[in-house]
Amino acid sequence: MSNPYQDAAKKMADKYLRTMAQAAEMGVIPYYSEHGKWYTAPYSGNSWWTGGFWPALMWQLYSADRDEAFVKEARRTQDLLTAEFRRYVDLNHDVGFMYLISCGGDYKITGSEQGRVDVLHAASLLMGRFNPEGFIRAWDGDNARGYAIIDCMMNLSILFWASRQTGDPRFAKVARIHADTTLREFFRPDGSVSHIIEFDPETGKRVREHGGQGYALGSSWSRGQAWGLYGFTLAYKNTGDKRYLEAAERIAGYFIDHIRPDGLTDSDFCQPKDEVRIDNLAGAIGACGLMELAKESGNTAYHDAGVRLVDGLLEHCSDWTDEKCGVLTHCTASYHDDGAGRHANIIYGDYFLAEALGKLNGTDPMLWM
Ligand code: GLY
Repeated sequence: MSNPYQDAAKKMADKYLRTMAQAAEMGVIPYYSEHGKWYTAPYSGNSWWTGGFWPALMWQLYSADRDEAFVKEARRTQDLLTAEFRRYVDLNHDVGFMYLISCGGDYKITGSEQGRVDVLHAASLLMGRFNPEGFIRAWDGDNARGYAIIDCMMNLSILFWASRQTGDPRFAKVARIHADTTLREFFRPDGSVSHIIEFDPETGKRVREHGGQGYALGSSWSRGQAWGLYGFTLAYKNTGDKRYLEAAERIAGYFIDHIRPDGLTDSDFCQPKDEVRIDNLAGAIGACGLMELAKESGNTAYHDAGVRLVDGLLEHCSDWTDEKCGVLTHCTASYHDDGAGRHANIIYGDYFLAEALGKLNGTDPMLWM
């Protein structure tokens, strides 16, 4: 009998086997696709924070399909990504995302020693962004010395990983300090989380909240909620600390209450009612976080909500034609700035859709641990 999630995974692998050769010919790491072409990131070249999702997607597709072409393509782009260690200036706290699920995927799946060393290198770079007043600095720039952002919860996994690999507790201790600061400073009474909190970089005292990529100051950027939900779930998986599990459940309750009737996700949960601005990146990340949270908490309602999100994505926003090189449509990078894509096919949407399908099909290699 046909299983829609296995069918979707097969169609995704077939589509990528058709379209990824174009990226290799161009010699690039793709960021988005339209009209049958891949395009690179609009900012920062191969240092743009999404670069690791392409090779990570290859590891997801390889885990589902075992076609060696995916291994070759992952390694081609990992070489481009690790070349950025030398350039350095555009790297930021997202080295966690970038290298754990790409080079770390290679180590996890093939045992590549170079992959392992590259992840340790990235973990050390992330450690270098730690402010001993209690937070990991997100971005560079004179105005951002005290910025910490909710997205960083996903980056902490690389630090827990590095402590397990080396036996050196420093990495995990820094991750826990940052997670505790996030727990203290980012949560609101309704279970939603802020995107950006600015601290005084000299004293660590909270200065203010910033609106970030959401609709407005104090609103709820849906992708930020998804990062927090999945990030705290991973912090719990890494530590067994129940406070992190409870934090993930608080965000999950809020997120689930805001899933649209069609299973899609608005770009901001507080956006005006007549605004059509969908962010399926948030939906795909949220689905993965919810399904992982169901495993950790034993509450199947989270799994069911994750499946509702995947069903919405497959029913309404998956492109199996050659109009797009990738699959997931209606991905929106930022509420007010369309420069990085609005209602587009963006590569990390495809990554999280593949991870969600992998969870449902039993092929997910769990690249975050
Ligand atoms: N981590 C940046 C973003 O989600 O746009």
